[in-house]
Amino acid sequence: MKVLIIGAGGREHALAWKLSRSGRVGKIFIAPGNAGTAEIGENVDIAVDDIPALVKFAASAKIDLTVVGPELPLTLGIVDDFRASNLKVFGPSKLAAELEGSKAFCKDLLKKYNIPSAAYEKFTDADSAKEYLKSAKLPLVIKADGLAAGKGVIICQTYEEAVAAVEQLMEERAFGTAGETIIVEEFLEGEEVSILAISDGTTVVPLAPAQDHKAIFNGDKGPNTGGMGAYSPTPLLTPAMEADILENILEPTIQAMEDEGREYTGVLYAGLMIKDGFAKVLEFNCRFGDPETQPVLMRMENDLFELLMAATEEELDEVSLSWTNATAVCVVLAAKGYPGKYEKGSVISGLDKLRGQKDTIAFHAGTAEKDGAVVTAGGRVLGITALGTSTAEAITKAYKAVEAIEWDGVYFRTDIGAKAVQKA
Ligand code: AMP
Ligand code: GLY
Repeated sequence: MKVLIIGAGGREHALAWKLSRSGRVGKIFIAPGNAGTAEIGENVDIAVDDIPALVKFAASAKIDLTVVGPELPLTLGIVDDFRASNLKVFGPSKLAAELEGSKAFCKDLLKKYNIPSAAYEKFTDADSAKEYLKSAKLPLVIKADGLAAGKGVIICQTYEEAVAAVEQLMEERAFGTAGETIIVEEFLEGEEVSILAISDGTTVVPLAPAQDHKAIFNGDKGPNTGGMGAYSPTPLLTPAMEADILENILEPTIQAMEDEGREYTGVLYAGLMIKDGFAKVLEFNCRFGDPETQPVLMRMENDLFELLMAATEEELDEVSLSWTNATAVCVVLAAKGYPGKYEKGSVISGLDKLRGQKDTIAFHAGTAEKDGAVVTAGGRVLGITALGTSTAEAITKAYKAVEAIEWDGVYFRTDIGAKAVQKA
């Protein structure tokens, strides 16, 4: 079988790596891919949002299954266009992807179907929002409705910060039309967990839970990034809590989407806040998480191709998943300056030292090949992921591998997974 993966990040390298281990997958194409995916399959130089070119390529290359990585093509309707051309594709339709594409849609749906989440108000003009803030309880969270590359969420401790956030989103339009509508939300305390679940529209199968370190600095301090590291499993959830999340959050959401005429297939990524053993939805994403996918797929014992095929053929009720008991920890190596301005083009050394290691993989994100060398080409550059018999061992193995890698301006957190060890 031939598979096309759309995207260029660490998530897509991990998907390519896992799919390449399936006995049923012959050839893998990645559009546009990175230097890591080029070692597994063939990179195709098409941008993730050039949907007509992607459809044309998939048809001419006779692709059996396309797996969409990032949210942008999903919210633009790539799945609808592939299906209209009779091409098999794993992901939600444009209407279903609105669950991530519009936070207002997501919050309204959660409220309508009584799915636990933070209380909120929705505004389409800055004056009403500012009026509301005068009497709102602090701290609070202000969110742009639309996609803002993970940066449209502002946590406000004071009234002045909240007013500034409204102005930034609605008046200065820092994220363009994404800020036409905003959500002002109750601040939730607790610890975050990511659950990536696979849905065929009716049945939903959660993957092993993971935790992501979103902040740029140690101790979960500083601005949020796409994710500086992740690990799976997490000591935060008991099997009873996982069952509760399936029954009270994931299944009702898939059912709600069906009731709304927006059948949801693909990955339903639930970002959850856990407090006192109880989960509330922070957000849904309509795709695999990055970097959560890297540790989660390293622990998966199933054939990923068969799982994704079962989801596209509405046969998920026949699937049961199994996981190694080992813990996987992923440490992201980023370019200095990320999530702000950073440089590209530095030569990365040491990758050859990790090649062939069974339990440690350097998943590439922002990398490119230049004159025979691998160079940095993005903010998040590599995700060094290791399996260990305990979280502590996986952390030690991952950081030992991190030591082997060097480039001018490498930055990483030194405490990935530490909070899980403290809890265990
Ligand atoms: P979102 O894109 O909605 O997940 O928000 C990004 C990040 O902002 C989350 O991962 C949380 O760390 C934080 N966040 C979002 N909403 C809330 C909330 N209601 N309370 C506390 N933190 C939040
Ligand atoms: N790691 C967070 C995300 O994928 O959105």
